[in-house]
Amino acid sequence: MLLLRLSGMNEMDKLLVSGGKRLEGEIYVSGAKNAALPILAATILADHPVILSNMPHLHDVTTTMDLLCRMGVIITIDEDMNIEIDSTSITNYYAPYELVKTMRASILVLGPLLGKYGKATVSLPGGCAIGTRPVDLHINALKKMGAKIDISKGYINADVNGRLQGVTIDFPIVTVTGTENVIMAAVLAEGKTIIHNAALEPEVVDLANFLNTIGANIVGAGTNTIEIEGVNSLTGGEYKILPDRVEAGTYLVAAAITGGSIKLTNALPRIMTAVLDKLRLANADIVCGDDWIELNMHGNRPKAVNIETSPYPGFPTDMQAQLLALNVVSEGRAIIQENVFENRFMHVQEMVRMGADIKINGNQAISNGVEQLYGAPVMATDLRASASLILAALIAKGTTQVDRIYHVDRGYERIEEKLSQLGAEIKRVHG
Ligand code: EPU
Repeated sequence: MLLLRLSGMNEMDKLLVSGGKRLEGEIYVSGAKNAALPILAATILADHPVILSNMPHLHDVTTTMDLLCRMGVIITIDEDMNIEIDSTSITNYYAPYELVKTMRASILVLGPLLGKYGKATVSLPGGCAIGTRPVDLHINALKKMGAKIDISKGYINADVNGRLQGVTIDFPIVTVTGTENVIMAAVLAEGKTIIHNAALEPEVVDLANFLNTIGANIVGAGTNTIEIEGVNSLTGGEYKILPDRVEAGTYLVAAAITGGSIKLTNALPRIMTAVLDKLRLANADIVCGDDWIELNMHGNRPKAVNIETSPYPGFPTDMQAQLLALNVVSEGRAIIQENVFENRFMHVQEMVRMGADIKINGNQAISNGVEQLYGAPVMATDLRASASLILAALIAKGTTQVDRIYHVDRGYERIEEKLSQLGAEIKRVHG
């Protein structure tokens, strides 16, 4: 068994950013974290090895691989970072608290373990920095498919007598990982499962495409009704993970906030319309090809833009903090309304400490653009909040120390190297 540590994450690492450099250049967008995680979990269902490429080097990916290896999965990585996963050797069906508490997406093993092995014990994820984030919708759907689920001592204990049954699931609200868990549970179930009000996110489509590549029968992914006809077994195969639209969006904002210009390769503009539209309104000049995006601010200060987050194809909550960083130094007043998570404004007070003018009113952050932010020691509380503080630091006068950078390592591959490549003054210091 070979399990590489993919990122040199250290809990005490900090980033030091000296602001004021106009970012210019080209970078390659990595594979999407939120597609990689469910696809890794879905390999549990395969009867033959799976080879995944374009896998991002992220701490959440390492955690998921660690979780799979503890179950008995064999993972090998070649020199091009293609990952071969052989899950035919699974001997235990357990996701322990110590891993789930560091990564909520561990809940994604529940559906495939139940679908393939008829049993699973998965730690119940707790609340997190962006909201309470319950998993009741996952559990209710799996119960409806015939799983017996009881929750005790902080664990979800699930089993099923025989196979899960295809049923109709009506999600009362759109849930991304909930939709993914049901898809994974349903591919080996008996009969047809229909998901109404399914999440439309491109990462859900990528999961369905991967599963279809290895023999599943899923139609409708990318629409709000997904139909999964259960099959008896899945094979193995090769699959390339989708590019990360949130990483791409974050670098576009980095260029925009500094008045710079950037070309992203391995980026898919067709899945980024909401973000590109807002950046255009902010006065960015944007040109796209099928798999690249160029943004040029021509040295100008952006204009502040109003945003309301919502499930795909709406403006993604995962880009909300980054757009707030842009708004706080842009010309004008703007309102950002967070509709997906109840507590996703933890970055606001840190930005205020850097000189931003932001007021919170319920689920709205109202900003008045200032001419200048100032470097300060700041602390990140979740992944996207960390990214937004780095963005604010890129335009701040003086040096910003961003603490608890392990959050950013969960979702951004080598962020300091990529930003340095664009001309930013940024370095990691090991605590
Ligand atoms: N919800 C429930 N009950 C459930 C499930 C969800 O009430 O059983 C609520 C949530 O509390 C939230 C809303 O439904 O208010 C939507 O949550 P969703 O389930 O869609 O979120 P998720 O699947 O836990 C994924 C991404 C998040 C991203 C959200 C929304 C992964 C691994 N995570 O989370 O990504 O913000 O969808 O798009 O795909 C990130 O990458 O930084 C990140 C947090």
